[in-house]
Amino acid sequence: MEEYSPQEMRRDMEDVRRTLGSRYGRQPLAYVKTYGCQQNVSDSERLMGMLLAMGYAQTDDPHRADFILFNTCAVRESAENRVLGNLGALKSLYEKNPARIMAVCGCMAQRPEIAAKVRESYGHVRLLFGANAPHRLPGLLLRVLAGERVIDTSPPSGEIPEGVPVHRDGRVKAWLPIMQGCDNFCSYCIVPYVRGRERSRPMDEVLSQAQALIREGYREITLLGQNVNSYGKGLGADFPTLLRRLSEIEGDFRVRFMTSHPKDCSEALIDAVASSDKICSHIHLPVQSGSGRILREMNRQYTPQEYLRLIDLARERIPGVHFTSDIIVGFPGETEEDFEETLELVRRVRYTSLFTFLYSRRSGTKAADLPDPVTPAEKARRFQRLLDIQEGIGRSIHEEQVGRVLTVLAEGPGREEGLLTGRTESGIITQFPAGEALIGQFVPVRITKALNWALCGETEEQK
Ligand code: 5AD
Ligand code: SF4
Repeated sequence: MEEYSPQEMRRDMEDVRRTLGSRYGRQPLAYVKTYGCQQNVSDSERLMGMLLAMGYAQTDDPHRADFILFNTCAVRESAENRVLGNLGALKSLYEKNPARIMAVCGCMAQRPEIAAKVRESYGHVRLLFGANAPHRLPGLLLRVLAGERVIDTSPPSGEIPEGVPVHRDGRVKAWLPIMQGCDNFCSYCIVPYVRGRERSRPMDEVLSQAQALIREGYREITLLGQNVNSYGKGLGADFPTLLRRLSEIEGDFRVRFMTSHPKDCSEALIDAVASSDKICSHIHLPVQSGSGRILREMNRQYTPQEYLRLIDLARERIPGVHFTSDIIVGFPGETEEDFEETLELVRRVRYTSLFTFLYSRRSGTKAADLPDPVTPAEKARRFQRLLDIQEGIGRSIHEEQVGRVLTVLAEGPGREEGLLTGRTESGIITQFPAGEALIGQFVPVRITKALNWALCGETEEQK
């Protein structure tokens, strides 16, 4: 794919702006719906940033929108089916007003079979482009506005563009993508095929963007990438150094990062987390399975023993560290014994919370060709057993917090009038009575009660 330079992007944004002005005679409205992971949420903030810069105003109501964009996820089949269903439902909106432009982008749109399906059966979709290049939106939209139907599935590649406008959803927490793509080819995963090879943003760009966010008043920055631990490959940079440089920035803020791959999680990283109060002592470290045999089949490149050694080392060096993880249940050929090894590992690590997934077959991946004899009913039973065990562990970790004073970043109004909600450094949702003036502040909260999904507490000043 040819590169699309920042200059071209700006020129096309200006051309779109002019075209929209003469086409609508009023400010047109744009609606963006995001499916999937934080990377997509962050991409959508850039897509909306460009749309606003081109003259659209944002709307939450697709019925009123002149431009509707679905930013999609391909990790599991269920997510794709949901998008296809919702896209089908848009047809009636299009029929009511054919001037409305409907578009699909993101990981799912990058898949050739999906692009073909949209081309043939979803005629109302006028624009499709893959996860490789959200910044190409202005040039592609210009062609659509000129009457063309654009289906762009050029392969993912290229440098990460700098200078794309961003419209952030919040004022307290900000996503900061530091890399794109993945080189790991875990055998079940579609991501390397749709997001392409791993490439990192220059450290100076990341640092200056972080500085700007902190100056604007953001209190939490989450560094994003499919495998942040291998940040900097090819740039002579590395992730622990990036963390240390970030923690040297003046200001009242904290840093999180996700996702970490255990094979690249080094002692230097653990020490970098331990070295600064600004780096949350929380590591999201997806294990996927507790069985050595299944991990090999998954091409994860670590053993359960190596994983547990890493956990022990982090516990030793980072006082009070919390772990979260991703686990896939029902990988092809997973036996009862394999699954019990996963349960054993979960009991041993004691994750604060878990993201659990039923294996979903993705055509084009290695695992898609493996025999998969376990019945869906048996997989569902295993899934429930894992949930039950994790519920007990999460609950007891929450109970251990009762009586402690934890620093909570107040993010917004809570579930009931008079409550604020936020997260502890370890990432646990916490609600407490306080006025909205505290939103965006780090608040010392004495924990008074543990729920399965959250903590409750009161601000120290109230005591
Ligand atoms: N089926 C189920 N879960 C998957 N994940 C990735 N690919 C699949 C798949 N084919 C999960 C992994 C990953 C998380 C983001 O999604 O656990 O860490
Ligand atoms: Fe997928 Fe593995 Fe890359 Fe994560 S590390 S995106 S699971 S291939």
